[in-house]
Amino acid sequence: MTDDRDASVSTADGFPTGSGGHDPEVLRQRALDALLTARARTATLTDSVDDGELTAQHSPLMSPLVWDLAHIGNQEEQWLLRAVGGREALRPEIDGLYDAFEHPRAARPSLPLLAPAEARTYASDVRGRALDILEGAPLHEGGRPLERAGFAFGMIAQHEQQHDETMLITHQLRTGPVALTAPAPPAPTDAATLPAEVLVPGGPFTMGTSAEPWALDNERPAHRREVAAFHLDTAPVTCGAYRRFIEDGGYTDPRWWAPEGWDMVREHDLAAPLFWYRDAGQWLRRRFGVTEPVPDDEPVLHVSWYEADAYARWAGRRLPSEAEWEKAARHDPATGRSLRYPWGDTDPTPEQANLGQRHLRPARAGAYPAGRAPSGAGQLIGDVWEWTSSDFLPYPGFVAFPYREYSDVFFGPGHKVLRGGSFAVDQVACRGTFRNWDLPVRRQIFSGFRTARDA
Ligand code: AVJ
Ligand code: FE
Repeated sequence: MTDDRDASVSTADGFPTGSGGHDPEVLRQRALDALLTARARTATLTDSVDDGELTAQHSPLMSPLVWDLAHIGNQEEQWLLRAVGGREALRPEIDGLYDAFEHPRAARPSLPLLAPAEARTYASDVRGRALDILEGAPLHEGGRPLERAGFAFGMIAQHEQQHDETMLITHQLRTGPVALTAPAPPAPTDAATLPAEVLVPGGPFTMGTSAEPWALDNERPAHRREVAAFHLDTAPVTCGAYRRFIEDGGYTDPRWWAPEGWDMVREHDLAAPLFWYRDAGQWLRRRFGVTEPVPDDEPVLHVSWYEADAYARWAGRRLPSEAEWEKAARHDPATGRSLRYPWGDTDPTPEQANLGQRHLRPARAGAYPAGRAPSGAGQLIGDVWEWTSSDFLPYPGFVAFPYREYSDVFFGPGHKVLRGGSFAVDQVACRGTFRNWDLPVRRQIFSGFRTARDA
């Protein structure tokens, strides 16, 4: 399933022909697994707090958890039951309540939302019907674009997992008794001998994909990009390195900041990443209800794009562009092709990447040697979303599919691209080509970064 720059292997809309990785029965099973995995996580996130907490708004930045739950069901109803299955609406009156564009997050708690028990029943009724439709759907090449290669089913599994990450952000923002726990991720083994940065030689590479069956519209199509030689951090910037920026007066010196970033620092009195507190000369952080010392060798988390940009300038470096990030993550100089993941074309294993909320924190810098790219860079997939210097823009030849509100309406200079996924996102919604985006002021997300410099 490696991208090939030869367009003749793809059908007109970019799905490859005849590859075993696109066998309809394999994809049907993969879709079923992905939908079940997502629902199990949704259940953990919504069953771990009581009804009062499900309907409360824990932060004006977030929806009540019960809104995410019914919104997950409503999107599934719209795409799998109505669009693919041709079914009538189960509850047409609720569509507006769960339309993210009709009601901003802050207004959602005052809507007549489905109560927790109703929302659970609705989501599970939709799911039962969706699985019936999946069983009989023709997923072959040449079928309807939504069904071909199981796209709509993969899209809905990704959508649910994206909201599972959103709900985990709500869990991180909530206060109260601990609701979620998880074992620690694996420790690094060779961190002491790892070089601080890797050199990525200049030259073209294939960016984006036309071959990945469930790639979303903004990842398409595959196209060639020229990237000049550059150096990239081997691992994401750590809390310890970031602490030195703080202790060097980073938050009090306008020299390091983009003008809008400096405005943000002064307006909100920022002095450290979100959830960090200083106590008796020590930095502490709150993580899913537990207060603990900031771990120096763990990638820094909960920084805005402005903070990442300022740190990089202070360090005499810069953020990588999105194309640089993807080349470091996917380009295989041995074959000249772009891999699906840094380690190759096979789906992630727990030895390669920290994904899926298996651990509720990033692994220490230098972990996951089995997940490294040919460039030598590690932890590109999982752990922390990585801010890039790039605005979120369409690739040449972009076509909105299946709805403009997924990507198209967000393109422009207002949103910065994040790459690679965090510990909070499942593998179905994370790959070498996956593009996330957010406002440059955002810091409640599971965001970190690494830095680069010209070669
Ligand atoms: C791609 C993570 C920015 O959460 O706003 C969920 C994903 N789109 N429902 C978001 C999404 C519609 C989106 N991000
Ligand atoms: Fe959504």
